[in-house]
Order: sequence, then C-alpha cells, then structure tokens
Amino acid sequence: MKTKCIYLDDSYEKTYSARVLEIKTNKELTSVVLDQTVFYPVGGGQPSDHGVIQGKKGKLVVEQVIIRGEAIEHIGKLEGKLKLKEIVNCTLDWERRYHNMRVHSAGHVLHEAVKHLFPELTPIEGEHGRRSYLRYSGNLDEISQNLILNKANDLVNENLPILTEFVTLDELKKRSPWIPEHLPTNKPLRIMWIGNFPPIPDGGTQVKNTSEILNFNYLQISNEGNEVTVLYRISDLQPKSSKNDKQTQTIFSSYQTISILDLKNQAYAQIDEAKDQEELENIRIDLFGKNGKFTLALKEIVKIPTEARKQYGITLNEGKNTLEEQIAEKKNELNNFARVWFDPTIPSKKPKLGKLHIVTNAINEIVEVFEKIGFTRMKYPEVEFDYFAFGALNFPENHPARDDWETFFIDQPDSKKYGSMLLTPHTSSGQIREMLSNKPPIRMINIAKCYRRQIDVSHYPMFHQFEGLVVDKDISITHLRGTIDYFAKSFFGSERVTRLRPYHFQFTEPSFEVDVSCNVCNGKGCKLCKEGWLEIGGAGMVHPKVLENCKVDSKIYSGFAFGWGVERTYMMKSDLSVPDIRLLYSSDLRVLKQL
Ligand code: FA5
Repeated sequence: MKTKCIYLDDSYEKTYSARVLEIKTNKELTSVVLDQTVFYPVGGGQPSDHGVIQGKKGKLVVEQVIIRGEAIEHIGKLEGKLKLKEIVNCTLDWERRYHNMRVHSAGHVLHEAVKHLFPELTPIEGEHGRRSYLRYSGNLDEISQNLILNKANDLVNENLPILTEFVTLDELKKRSPWIPEHLPTNKPLRIMWIGNFPPIPDGGTQVKNTSEILNFNYLQISNEGNEVTVLYRISDLQPKSSKNDKQTQTIFSSYQTISILDLKNQAYAQIDEAKDQEELENIRIDLFGKNGKFTLALKEIVKIPTEARKQYGITLNEGKNTLEEQIAEKKNELNNFARVWFDPTIPSKKPKLGKLHIVTNAINEIVEVFEKIGFTRMKYPEVEFDYFAFGALNFPENHPARDDWETFFIDQPDSKKYGSMLLTPHTSSGQIREMLSNKPPIRMINIAKCYRRQIDVSHYPMFHQFEGLVVDKDISITHLRGTIDYFAKSFFGSERVTRLRPYHFQFTEPSFEVDVSCNVCNGKGCKLCKEGWLEIGGAGMVHPKVLENCKVDSKIYSGFAFGWGVERTYMMKSDLSVPDIRLLYSSDLRVLKQL
C-alpha cells in the first residue's frame, strides 16, 4: 500500500480528493490510509497536520498523521462511516498548517543567523513544534542572545525568498555543505535555501518568504555541558488587532493570494469533472461571469496593500489564463465525439519524443556498413522448418541443438518434406533459403530475431543475429578475412583488429570463431576479456555439401558465411559499457535513455 504525497510539490496545497485504501478502528481511534495526501506526517521536528477527511456518510477528524512504510496513516475520531475505495474530500486545518510552516521556516532563518554569527557551532538537532529550538555542539554566552535575535529579525525584514527543489543524492552531495547522517528513504530528497544562503537538505513544509514569519519575539540560550540550546518563538498572526501593522497586512494579503490559488485548484478539478457543455458553461459563468469569483477577486485588488498587490495580480492572472485554457480544452474534449465544433487553434499537448531502440540502431548501422561493400539485406522466416534450420545445414539427426531443451518447437503437425516447425535458433537458415531462391553471385546479409532456451548476463531467449553469405567463383578465406576486418574497423573503430580461431560448425569447413580485440584493454588482457580478445561469433567457408543441398555446383562455386549476435556485437563498442544483455530488453526507460 502506497500513499502519494502531494504536499511535497506545493506547500500551499490544502484541499484535494483521494481514494480510501484502508480503514482500521481500534477503540476510539480510526486509522485511514489514502492513495494520496497533502497531510504532513509528523517528522523532521515538525508536528503533523490536522484536518478533516470527508466521505459521503461520515468523516474522520484527523489528529495525527504518521508514516507506516510506504503508506501514510491518518489517525483520528471517525464520525459516521467511511467506505473502502470511496472518494473523499480532504481539507487541511490550514491555520495549524500555516503556523507550523512559519515556525519551521523560522527555525531555518534562526539557524542562518546563528551560523552567520558563530560559524564554529555544529548543528545537532532541532524541533519546530510547540517547543521550538535548535541545538548545537559548542557554547554561547548570554550576550549572544540579543545578537542572534537581531540578526534573525533582520533576515525576516529582508523579505528573503525561501526556495525548495527536489534533487538526486548526487546533486544533494554537490550542493549542500552538510548532509545529515540518516536521509529519508520514503520521500524524494529535497533541498531548501533562504535568499543567497547555501542550500541544506530539508523535506518539511515552508512558507515562501521570510516576511511571513512576522518576527521573532522570544529567544533564550541555555548551555548544558558541551551543548547549547537556542529556544525561539515567533509572533502569532493577529488579524483584528494589527490593522495598522503594515507587515501583518502583507501576510494577510498573502493569505488572499493563497485563497486565489485555492479557488483555482477547486475550479480546475470542477472543470476536469464537467460532464457536458451546460455544466462547463455554468462553471465558466461562476468564475468569469459578471459576478463571477475571478471577476470579483479582480475588483478586490484595490484593497490589497501596495507591497502585496503585484503578487496578488500575478496569481490572479495566471489562474485566469490557466482556467480559461482548461475550459477551452474541456469544451473541445466534450465535443470531440459529436464533432459539433472543433477549435483547431487550441494548442495541443506536446507529445514526448521517443527514439529508436538501440538494437534497431545497431541493425541500421550494420546494414549501412555492409551495403557499402555490395551486400543486400534479406529477410527470411523466423518461424521455420527443421530442414532449413538444421537438416540442409548438415546437422545430424541427433544433434543437441535439435533437442527441445535448446530450441523452441511449434506445436504443429510436422511437414512431410521439411520436418517440424520451430523458432529459428540462428540466421543460418537464411543461407539455405537464399541459395535456393537466388543463383550466385550472392552477397547477402540476413538480420533477424533468433530464439534459444537460454538466459543469463550474456544470453537472452530472443536475440538478433546478422548473417553474411557470399557465394561466387574463386571465393577464398582471404575474402572472409578481409570482410571481417573491414566490418570490425568500420563498426568498432580503426584501432580494433580481429583474429580467426579454428572451430567446428556443421555447415562450414573450415570453421572459425571470430574474436575482436578488447575495447577495455586494447588487446593487452583484462578482467573482461582475460587474454585481450572478445568473441563475436562464428564464420567459415560454406561446406560443399550445403552448396549441393541448395543446388549450387561446388566444383564451380565456393563461398563464406559468418553469423554474429547483434546485441553482443553492439555491447562491444568502445563507447558503451552494458554489463548485462538483459538490460536491453528490460523496458526500463532509465537504462534505455542512457544508451
Ligand atoms: C551460430 O549461431 C552460427 N549459426 C554462426 C555461424 C554462421 C557460423 C555462419 C558459421 C557460419 P553461435 O551459436 O556461436 O553460432 O552464435 C553466434 C553468436 O550469436 C554468438 O557468438 C553470440 O554473439 C550470439 N548469441 C548466441 N546465443 C545467444 C543468446 N542466447 N543471446 C544473445 N546472443 C546470442
């Protein structure tokens, strides 16, 4: 069970809907797990959120939020009933959340003030709840108290932006001057920073500007042993009694800005759920009509204090543009089936660009190399008869490759002439098909899928081979050698060399295994290759019996053939290091995007 944390993206998000995944009641308390939440669990020195989860026939008054593995439990008193899988509306106790955010951000501002004045202190821990404090190893005298208080309030008055950003562990290590001993594993890593101060790791909820803290009204330093604790408190928001306080008004204006964001979020959800044009039009009028919510909010702008007006205006404008765009899109979507009208000028969503799979790229590259020396790409069946895959290639009846432990056979009655059906275990069956359908001179390259019952770091049950076949008068091993060398230099790089090792294949005589010099050690010998060479596949002179099986006169013609794995050949390129062939077919975009 997993709960997605919406709150991490925007600390001002406070209403949302979610689906109930689990309900457990124990005595008076009920725990509810949702598929997503903006409720902040207790942690990082910050208390958890409160609020209400409202279902159709009941509600949970949330008093505590805790993390349980990947799930987040909302614990509180259940009034009425909630049902599994029902969609519920969740509303944060925003006053409490906003207070917690201010206290938390204040802790960070205070820390910057302490570090600025006393860089020798090392932070140990902090809490930003009822009792808010920072603890450092080191000591401070009483005079420091006022210095810190003044510096912290200076930072508040400087209206510094408080920024957050999600990061990878590597980025975190690069950008943050210190990293806590235990990093969270249940949520994305995040850094936060104030103005030009260096970023530090932090996953809590923050206000967006130091001015929202209002001011530090209490600070107390106490030394105990080698540690010093700095207790702090900030002013509460007092809307009624602080009418003349310009700074407090700014805070309340930012509340108004937040309520525009709320309005936008609610409208966004309504538009998304609209079922027909009529409902959509009503939503539009409710927002932008003569007495619409956005229209009225725009009129309110004159009442916003000058210093907050700009932000209010920007938020209002952005909200209006987004919603108008969304209404137009929804209108289009609702009309799409009926095609009553269609607005082709609405900008469409930019599709994500994909790219070809690296094996496709490798095949294209291989074809290009061989086309330059006159080879033509051919394609032959991947579901084949035994005769083409084995019989005509000289495999004896009892050869292990013909066993169904090695080859995939098709559950079909045997052909009288060609035997059983199977998935081609190699592209050599293409040699037979090619010679039976074309007369020499032949210069073909057959690239196809092959299937074998094998899987490990260098084997996959479905892989690709490319098979070259040249048949003409006076073809000798020299031609084979030259072709292999040409390919290795074109495909792997001019510094790479090849060698032929005597081997045995049923359908070539003499037969060889082809090795290419290792890309890691350049032929000197290393862990990967042991002796400086990597095997890429088989090759040899076409066996006269195979020529005869294909009605090619072996006294007049001779030929060579080679068959190599596309994946393995590609993995040997000097700029790639793919440690496991299975990664190529894991469909893991994180891997594929890198190749
Ligand atoms: C053959 O398949 C022969 N038909 C090659 C040949 C053709 C020899 C023409 C002579 C003349 P072999 O079983 O060694 O040979 O396979 C050739 C290459 O295919 C291997 O070197 C390897 O690169 C690749 N290969 C074989 N099995 C797998 C597998 N399960 N997964 C990935 N690649 C494989």
